[in-house]
Amino acid sequence: MPDQEARGAWSSKAGFLLAAAGSAIGLGNIWRFTYIMGENGGAAFILVYVACIILIGVPLFLAELVLGRNTHLNPVGAIEAIKPGTSWKWIGALGVLAGALLLSFYSVVAGWVMAYALRAPFGTISGLASPEEAGPYFDALSSSASQSLMFHGLFMVATVVIVARGIKGGIERASKIMMPTLFILLAALAVRSMTLPGAGAGIDFMLRPDFSALTPSVVLIAMGHAFFTLSVGMGTMITYGSYLTPEHNLPMASLQVAFMDTLIAIVAGFAIFPALFAFGMEPTEGPGLVFVTLPVVFHQMPGGVLFASMFFVLFFMAALTSSISLLEVVAAYFIDELGWVRSKAVLILGVAIFLMGIPAALAMGSWGGWSIASMLGATAGQGALGSVSLFQDNWFDLISNIVSDYMLPVGGFFLCLLVGWFWNRATVEAEVFIGSPGFRFMTLWINLLRWFGPLLIGQVLVLGILAEFPAEYFPFLAQLVDTLQAWFAALDILVALAVIVVTLVAGDKTRPAEFKN
Ligand code: PHE
Repeated sequence: MPDQEARGAWSSKAGFLLAAAGSAIGLGNIWRFTYIMGENGGAAFILVYVACIILIGVPLFLAELVLGRNTHLNPVGAIEAIKPGTSWKWIGALGVLAGALLLSFYSVVAGWVMAYALRAPFGTISGLASPEEAGPYFDALSSSASQSLMFHGLFMVATVVIVARGIKGGIERASKIMMPTLFILLAALAVRSMTLPGAGAGIDFMLRPDFSALTPSVVLIAMGHAFFTLSVGMGTMITYGSYLTPEHNLPMASLQVAFMDTLIAIVAGFAIFPALFAFGMEPTEGPGLVFVTLPVVFHQMPGGVLFASMFFVLFFMAALTSSISLLEVVAAYFIDELGWVRSKAVLILGVAIFLMGIPAALAMGSWGGWSIASMLGATAGQGALGSVSLFQDNWFDLISNIVSDYMLPVGGFFLCLLVGWFWNRATVEAEVFIGSPGFRFMTLWINLLRWFGPLLIGQVLVLGILAEFPAEYFPFLAQLVDTLQAWFAALDILVALAVIVVTLVAGDKTRPAEFKN
């Protein structure tokens, strides 16, 4: 591939794997997973989330990599290359937009992490002895417009500088060594947290599923978070895959990344929830959860200052390796499709995304009262429209929910259809076999993309949208949800059986002879 050299490529197998894991592992695993799981009932949520990772996330991750490596293009260009002149490219465009929106609030949270990392060495963070001290401390930071904006800005600068240096220079190097260390620190935190007096309730919360908690909205949020945490549904892995060379084993990479990502999230849960219950806090704390809980755990550890300093630095690095993948998706589009020079694209986009993030940075403070409902003149809970749950969100929650619960799954839905049904199957299979000639799950993977992905995503989206409208104002919708749930369950069982049978019967037959090893 002649122009591939010029466009950039990963320098080694390990480099790519670290970068892909770096994209996946970030604020999502530690900050978002824990607060969202806490708000949505714990163990049952975790089960749905893990199921979504396995049944939808991993297959899509692989599909995106295949699409990227086959076309060597950004999400829009890649889709346009295989379906020229069709509307399919809008899926790529949706992804680029989702990336920009996601980064706009991601950077705000990463800014808070940065603030904690800078303050921890002075003992400030581990000096917070109780939730009663840590809560107001975090509120002071997040509600201060000047501090939130400053750290949001600093974080965007860091992201821009790395992405501007291009694929080899910046992204890979930033991704090395940090992940294992972060993991070890998290594990140490989990041990401390789980041995606090009264930690048992937190362990129960994560391990004892209460299935009555599984409403359609909870399932939607769990699925949305599976997309968020794996960085799928918006073409991140199309973009990263576009810098891949043939020797990479894509199925293996997908599994490894998903495994590490899930492990980190679960360990983060065990670092936070036992402590949270031990300190008598509520799991529904919201986006401040890690910032309020972890300092108190550090306070309880010998060498808390050191641990806290290391942890927040590594957490910051994890956020950075994710934010660079977000900016890379958006930048690759402007570079490939509009012919912008990398440095110009990255700078302009960085500034634009910083500006887009301003309302998110203010949402914990002066803009906290804003919501669509407030604009409609309906106070929360009053009037049918004002009661729609999305309409009650402040800007930060609104963007976060729309992107992860709707934009990423919609992108994923169409990517499943595209790769499963509408792309030349021989090309797809040949691309997977490059670098992994012994791949044994082709039939299963294709069937997951063809049937399960679209079916499950579609159902969860439909039910989730209907559930945004509360039953007291929209009783007929609640009824529809009940009926649909029953039908969907029956349909899923049928499809599951069909997929199992087809996979067993077709088995390995799809593996072309020339790839036999
Ligand atoms: N997966 C990243 C995280 O968990 C966030 C992300 C989402 C990055 C989508 C890229 C694309 O923090």
